[in-house]
Amino acid sequence: MFKLWFSLKFLVKSTFKRLTIPAFAIAALITGLLVACQPQEVVESPSPTATPVVTQTPVTSNKPVAFPDRELSANPAQLPQLPYAANALEKAIDAQTMELHHGRHHQTYVDNLNKALAEQSNLRSSSIEAMLRDLNNVPENIRTTVRNNAGGHLNHTIFWQIMSPTGGGQPTGQIATEINQTFGSFEQFRKQFNEAGGNRFGSGWVWLVRNPQGQLQIVNTANQDNPIMNGLYPIMGNDVWEHAYYLRYQNRRADYLNNWWNVVNWDEVNRRSLASRQA
Ligand SMILES: [Fe+2]
Repeated sequence: MFKLWFSLKFLVKSTFKRLTIPAFAIAALITGLLVACQPQEVVESPSPTATPVVTQTPVTSNKPVAFPDRELSANPAQLPQLPYAANALEKAIDAQTMELHHGRHHQTYVDNLNKALAEQSNLRSSSIEAMLRDLNNVPENIRTTVRNNAGGHLNHTIFWQIMSPTGGGQPTGQIATEINQTFGSFEQFRKQFNEAGGNRFGSGWVWLVRNPQGQLQIVNTANQDNPIMNGLYPIMGNDVWEHAYYLRYQNRRADYLNNWWNVVNWDEVNRRSLASRQA
């Protein structure tokens, strides 16, 4: 490299000496030539058609929903285990209903979703929540199937977590304070929540959500729609499909809604509420 530099310097100096070019200009010219001769680092742009290899659920959002710390995998969707025995929630829900609800209904949502996504490797690498937040990304021929079954999988995954055999009673922690501030009292909140669940015509869910302004709200959704489809964070929700209560309560949805408070897991509701504030 030095040999090349001196050769170039001599050549350029002898050529430009007669043209009265200043020495500093000659030096700058030589330096520029040498720099141009250096090998350059090549930064490759990712191919726009490359399909990422996914070994685990990627972080597609900083807003976990299925669990307070992570979103729900679709690669493949899997039935979560119940965090208690099927007969553990007898204070509100009988064992046979729990077995059918979890082992048949929820399993069917999982199976139908995996079937619909079998040829959709890009979608599978997304999370359930990401799919539901942007259903327009789902091909039209499977969009309704994904909406119903991804929603069913997400809703029930949340549902099992926010119930507990040791649940019930008055709310605790931060959510208790916020419920009082927002609705006046726990009794008022429970009344409005039950009314919203009772008013949902046909099948659906009733939810306590946090809206984008950070406020608590009660909403209900049809079928298996989840509040994240409307930009709302689901903190707790009750399933008002007949499959959730009919064996014990028959047509008495209001009785089911009243008894359900005996198994609400306030610890988990608090964790979800905290996650919703951080989202
Ligand atoms: Fe259900």
